[in-house]
Amino acid sequence: MALTFDSLAEVAVARDLLRRWWGLELGLTEGDGGGYVRVSHATCETVRGADGPACTAAMKAIAAAFAKSKSREPVAQRCHAGFTILAAPVFGAKGLAGVVYASGARHGEPPNLTMCSPEEAATLAAATPALSDDDLARARDLVAAAAAAVERSQPAEVPATTHAHPFTEIVGDAPAVRDVVKLLQKVVRSEATVLVHGESGTGKELIARAIHYHGPRAKKPFVVQNCSAFNDNLLESALFGHVRGAFTGAVKDQAGLFQVADGGTFFLDEIGDMSSALQVKLLRVLQEGTFMPVGGTKPVKVDVRIIAASHKDLAAMVAHKQFREDLFYRVNVLKLTVPPLRERASDIPRLAQHFVKKHWKNASQQAPRLSQGALARLVAYPWPGNIRELENEVERMLVLAGDATELTGGMVSARVAGGASAIGKPLRDVLANAETDAIVAALGRHAGDRPAAAAELGVSHAYLDARIAALGLGSSS
Ligand SMILES: Nc1ncnc2c1ncn2[C@@H]1O[C@H](COP(=O)(O)OP(=O)(O)O)[C@@H](O)[C@H]1O
Ligand SMILES: [Mg+2]
Repeated sequence: MALTFDSLAEVAVARDLLRRWWGLELGLTEGDGGGYVRVSHATCETVRGADGPACTAAMKAIAAAFAKSKSREPVAQRCHAGFTILAAPVFGAKGLAGVVYASGARHGEPPNLTMCSPEEAATLAAATPALSDDDLARARDLVAAAAAAVERSQPAEVPATTHAHPFTEIVGDAPAVRDVVKLLQKVVRSEATVLVHGESGTGKELIARAIHYHGPRAKKPFVVQNCSAFNDNLLESALFGHVRGAFTGAVKDQAGLFQVADGGTFFLDEIGDMSSALQVKLLRVLQEGTFMPVGGTKPVKVDVRIIAASHKDLAAMVAHKQFREDLFYRVNVLKLTVPPLRERASDIPRLAQHFVKKHWKNASQQAPRLSQGALARLVAYPWPGNIRELENEVERMLVLAGDATELTGGMVSARVAGGASAIGKPLRDVLANAETDAIVAALGRHAGDRPAAAAELGVSHAYLDARIAALGLGSSS
């Protein structure tokens, strides 16, 4: 597959600086070093005109060395004519995918231009851009930054889940998710009340729906009510219904949601926000299966399975007398704890890809792929709004993408990307961003395992630690 190169902002920045500062040209070869054509300047072009095969062989040797060592460290190497070639590898799913280079620099000893007369050689050598040690290091960093950008623009490989279960709508492979799914298999067969605990947007309602739709009540109603959305009177009337004349405006009998849910499942979201008066009524439903409509005189009997959810710690609320202890024990029969997304960052690629497919509406065209740069940014963000926020972000990226075949790092919102963008920034920030992306992406691919990430990046563990600290990545990795 062809690599994206010319259209990348980081490549444009690196190319522009290499040209302006040293008159060098940036190029890209294929993974085997083939397709080497861009030469940096007239001298290099003269040599290539005369020694084409030798030039190509020099590039192929560099590519072969990268392929063998798997190192991402950029190199500066002298070619057969004594020019220095700066090169950095681009790795893909199947090993070396390409080499970004700037050829024909002069560093140290002058080139050895045997293909022309001595006078001509002297003129040409004088016209060759010469690099100091400092220049060499900077130019090499630019080549490496461009290579890192090319690498990040490749489609990301999202690992398939290794973990098969009937709840295919619940995506995730993190240990905490496996625990939840394992428990779900038991929970769906029982009639017990379930308490789902977790921050907003972690998938509590998704789990409640899974319990309902995978269980014996699947053909009966699944009813949802958020207990913090209403004032007490309205909530009571919504849950339990009212009789005509119970209050101003109650012009006829109105069934409550508990009646609507009869035979099915009632998902009570944010149960911790229920007033103590309503807690008493709910307790009665759980104990006796009956309740009294507002203003009513005859209890109503229902058969409803209750699933409650809360982001608050109900046990602590009991300790502070903010939640009834007897209700707590009725509700807390089976407890499922859903982790926040930041504690299962290894699932972000999988979830992001799931949402790309979920929200891709154009059946006549394949859904776009997530680039490595985009994934690197998504993995690095702490997601205070959890999976819901990630889902919204992916939907937003799809809108931006239009019919593009790839979702790039540039389509990630500034809030999530932390304002990272190469345009109009000093070089040192561009380089730091490139480095940050590479480190974060490697950590993401290795689920935060630093030694493994260091090995992949071709640096020592100590060096990686130092860079993580220097780039301020410590807390988010
Ligand atoms: N593990 C998951 N796999 C796939 N989608 C998920 C997962 N968890 C949550 N979602 C999706 O994220 C969004 C928010 O989940 P939701 O269940 O409403 O969270 P909560 O009830 O905890 O606020 C929903 O669109 C839901 O389908
Ligand atoms: Mg919710």
